[in-house]
Amino acid sequence: MSSFEISGPKKLEGEIEVKGAKNMALKAIAASILSDEPMIISNIPRIEDVNRLIEIIEDLGAVATWETDSRLKIESQGISKPKLNEKLVPTLRSSIVLIGPLLARFNEVSLPHPGGCSIGKRPIDVFIDGLTSLGVKYYCKNDSYFFKKPGRLEGNRFRFPKPSVTGTETMMMAAVLAEGATALINCACEPEIPALAEYLNSQGAKIKGAGTHTITIEGVESISAGECKIIPDRIETGSFAIMGVATNSRIGITNCNPLQCELPLTMLKDMGADISWGKDWIEIRPVKKKLHAINISTKEYPGFPTDLQAPMTVLLSQAEGNSSVFETIFEDRFMYIDSIKKMGADITMENPQKITIKGAHELHGKEVESPDLRAGIAMVIAGLIAQGETRIGNIYQIDRGYENLQARLNQLNADIDRHE
Ligand code: EPZ
Repeated sequence: MSSFEISGPKKLEGEIEVKGAKNMALKAIAASILSDEPMIISNIPRIEDVNRLIEIIEDLGAVATWETDSRLKIESQGISKPKLNEKLVPTLRSSIVLIGPLLARFNEVSLPHPGGCSIGKRPIDVFIDGLTSLGVKYYCKNDSYFFKKPGRLEGNRFRFPKPSVTGTETMMMAAVLAEGATALINCACEPEIPALAEYLNSQGAKIKGAGTHTITIEGVESISAGECKIIPDRIETGSFAIMGVATNSRIGITNCNPLQCELPLTMLKDMGADISWGKDWIEIRPVKKKLHAINISTKEYPGFPTDLQAPMTVLLSQAEGNSSVFETIFEDRFMYIDSIKKMGADITMENPQKITIKGAHELHGKEVESPDLRAGIAMVIAGLIAQGETRIGNIYQIDRGYENLQARLNQLNADIDRHE
């Protein structure tokens, strides 16, 4: 089990470049299945979730080749048996996005339940209801799911009971090769969705409305594959901005798209941070006064992202005054609270969806764990501002979504050792 050893408190200094978005890269890999041509994915991050999804599609018969450190070629024509590997799938919840393209291309797929991760049981009812609305038959046996549709999927109208990011992407990809038109209602609007749609349309798909709550897709016989460029990771961007403010540092964040992270950045400014941004850069400067507390409620995009909830909680533990954090998306995303409290934060769990934070309380280095990847980066931020040594266990969770984090932060003058 790998761990990080972080010496704090440390001010950061310098520039950090944002990598490609994990939550687009995984869907681009799934999209490679829609075409029988070789696909190139550029600006793709080298992270564990990408490695896991590559293993899963290679197990199906696809061939993935790293042409450079951030450029991946995928040839999916070798896929024959769309039976997702029951050992690999539970290692990656988001492998569920494969079922849309596999059904669109091969008319059948079977998979074990894609497992939760530690933020909740993560049901797949939306996927089942959506795909059956396209004419797919399914049955469940010994906790595995079998989907089948002889012939092409049939376009239809489907309303999501509530916005689901991967549900929207899975249905959008399934509909690309369906017979006739599909209308998806109450879709998620996260920026990775229009970015995926833009790529698919550049290869011959006919998708309208991606990025809004209603997406319509005109089915086509086939699409080409070409090249897909992954957009900058807005959650990495927000994580580094919160890190810069929490350590009261002077840092630059480059190769990012601040507008896709505008609400968190504006909130940092409202708290009193000295932060400015332009088209593809953010600058953070130290301030003399303590930040003041604000209340956070996570929401679907463009609201405050649930993936920045944990890093923000660490920052709020250092702000003057009391604040509350209301997690409305996932039912179990405060697993990290005990670790932050162990380090000295004054946090009360009002109920499973809401915490109140009394700032500002100094943090002290402790031995802690990272239950999920976003809590993991929150623990790194806590370690950078705490007095003394912090050891974070289970950093595979961090490696899932942040490429080469230790080296990149040490470039910024952090003091992080990695122990295997
Ligand atoms: C995506 O997860 C992201 N993952 C998550 O990022 C992100 O936190 C989440 O969207 C919300 O923005 C990827 O894109 C790979 P949802 P997703 O379906 O699509 C419930 C990270 O750290 N739901 O929008 O799985 C679900 O339980 C990860 O990068 C059902 O009830 O999230 C949740 O409460 C974490 N039934 C809510 O909907 C279903 O069939 C929103 O989930 C599917 C989801």
